[in-house]
Amino acid sequence: MNTLLMIYTKFYLLLIGFLIIRGTESTGTCSKKSSEDCASSTSNGNKYSEEANGEFEKYEAIIDAAKREYEPCTDNICKCYNQVISKDLKPFRSGINEESIRNIKSKGTKYQIIDNKLYRENDCLFPARCSGVEHYLLKLLHKVNNTEFILNTRDWPQIFQHHGPHGPVFSFSKTDDYLDIMYPAWAFWEGGPAISLYPKGIGRWDQHRKLLGQVGNETKWNDKMSKAFFRGSRTSSERDALILLSRENPVLVDAQYTKNQAWKSDADTLHAPPAPEVSFEEHCKYKYLFNFRGVAASFRLKHILLCKSLVFHVGNDWIEFFYPFLRPWIHYIPVERDASKEKIKELLEFFENHQDLAQQIANNGYNFIWNNLQLKHVDCYWLNLIKRYTKLLKYKPTLGEGMKEIVGK
Ligand SMILES: *[C@@H]1O[C@H](CO)[C@@H](O)[C@H](O)[C@H]1NC(C)=O
Ligand SMILES: *[C@@H]1O[C@H](CO)[C@@H](O)[C@H](O)[C@H]1NC(C)=O
Repeated sequence: MNTLLMIYTKFYLLLIGFLIIRGTESTGTCSKKSSEDCASSTSNGNKYSEEANGEFEKYEAIIDAAKREYEPCTDNICKCYNQVISKDLKPFRSGINEESIRNIKSKGTKYQIIDNKLYRENDCLFPARCSGVEHYLLKLLHKVNNTEFILNTRDWPQIFQHHGPHGPVFSFSKTDDYLDIMYPAWAFWEGGPAISLYPKGIGRWDQHRKLLGQVGNETKWNDKMSKAFFRGSRTSSERDALILLSRENPVLVDAQYTKNQAWKSDADTLHAPPAPEVSFEEHCKYKYLFNFRGVAASFRLKHILLCKSLVFHVGNDWIEFFYPFLRPWIHYIPVERDASKEKIKELLEFFENHQDLAQQIANNGYNFIWNNLQLKHVDCYWLNLIKRYTKLLKYKPTLGEGMKEIVGK
């Protein structure tokens, strides 16, 4: 438990360091609002001006500090993931009674495990997502005591810290503002977003992991294009800065919006025609890959880390259960949510000039996901989560009315 606290503390120290650096550098340069004027006044300067070299030294120092501070999980990774479960269950440590479940029932789908059988209320908002979760629940029925829980299959978490009803709700992703208990997303098995390339939805992480893990190993760094790449729909305007940088500087960045189900006109793709979707394997042809949140955390992150390209992860507030073990500047490059085009350009130029560091961090990201995010770890997370949650129940659940048994396919 203390280790997790340490991890978070270190993370914040790093973040503070980063903010201090940002603070000093923004004196006399561009504020975000005036970035347009700013780009025109500075972009014709020499790429390797003294100022840029100063920035470069700062990035080197941040990376050095991150390396010194980093303490990897040396235990079985599943034991390390237990720290996340501890943190999520902490608000409920005095026990969970029947009433607190009743209060939050409308926040998700009710599941029960009674006498080693799985039951669910009849309706599920997203059947493929429920099915993706049930794949894991069905495997642990004989290892847990009778239990019940409310599982949210929406993208958005449900239990806001600061007001509204509090109670134990399982969600796949959250920010620090939420008390939801994280579970491994349905999309590890099925029910991920359905795009034209993956019409049945992105799922089967076991298959993607194997394929991408191989492509990542086989694509040599020097054969990759020295360009930043992003394809995705405009689920969040936080993605706009990179898209605009790409339109301005297509040599440095290829970032384009694709259609989503809600697409009506080019206005929905920031006034440009939508680009075709691109498979994860194709992403591996680029040295620098961008990840943004979507509605909540993006499923894309774990996939693109397996390209062995350098991943730029924008924003740090939305997390899934394994994110706390991915460390900025060790496994990926953190980019602030509101980073300007200039800031992004500066980071890309730094790594263009520090290929050894870029490759090291790309390898670290690959190794973390390849070694520590296998389906057996997802199984193990689910089992620990249900066991430890169930211990907190102050009552003995009995089979509810209208619950239907879920059996394997
Ligand atoms: C099930 O409950 C019993 C009695 O409370 C307890 O001793 C046992 O450890 C529990 N089993 C699991 C898997 O948690
Ligand atoms: C890729 O290479 C790493 C490091 O050599 C290795 O551990 C891993 O098993 C390889 N992955 C695949 C899919 O072969």
